[in-house]
Amino acid sequence: MRREGRNLVVAIDGPAGAGKSTVARQVSKDLGYIYIDTGAMYRALTVKALRQGIILSDEAALSRLAKETEIRLTYQDHTQAIIMDGEDVSVAIRTPQVSQNVSLVARVPGVRTEMVELQRRLAQKGGIVMDGRDIGTFVLPEAECKIFLTASARERAMRRARDLEASGYEVDIDELEKEIATRDRIDSTREMAPLQQASDAILIDTSDMSFNEVVDKIKEYIRQTQRNSFMGLE
Ligand code: DC
Repeated sequence: MRREGRNLVVAIDGPAGAGKSTVARQVSKDLGYIYIDTGAMYRALTVKALRQGIILSDEAALSRLAKETEIRLTYQDHTQAIIMDGEDVSVAIRTPQVSQNVSLVARVPGVRTEMVELQRRLAQKGGIVMDGRDIGTFVLPEAECKIFLTASARERAMRRARDLEASGYEVDIDELEKEIATRDRIDSTREMAPLQQASDAILIDTSDMSFNEVVDKIKEYIRQTQRNSFMGLE
């Protein structure tokens, strides 16, 4: 998968709260790439499952739901909206209830098969930054740039707390840290495409880095990859 110039495929993976989406959004904006938030897709399906009262251990029901649900991403001025069956669920996917339950939906193989198909279709033309858990290892193993972004569980809990507080939620940091650890465990131990650093991904621990430092580091890595690919080194 070699592309000229700017149309690379960039995969950013890592655990919850490592800052993937804010960083990926900024990098794609700066480079004129399209940002694809794959977590939002699993969240959208979780919204629907919760609304329908589906028991989240019922894998067959969740697989059926994934098959019959239409999920789309739309963009306006670099802002991504997630559309489920024609409804904009960009706000609904961010509630604590969805965050607490989404891992249970995302671990179902039938759900993942549907989402991965959609993600691969979206990546076909290149010029994208896709973030998730299994992008570099499973969804787009041929991506030219792979980044595994992480931070300590405490730091991630503190960042999530700031976001939630800004949206008007009351938070308990210890509880959040526990929730994050639980999600990490479910995401890393599931059978299909678990959260894992790809062997050819660069690791960035953002615990002690500023947002701009992380963005700059990733952009430099992408530019370097473009230069190498232009010179035929990769
Ligand atoms: O990144 P996020 O918090 O919005 O992700 C929501 C959930 O979806 C999380 O539990 C992990 C899961 N997920 C996944 O399994 N694979 C992806 N590519 C993206 C997210």
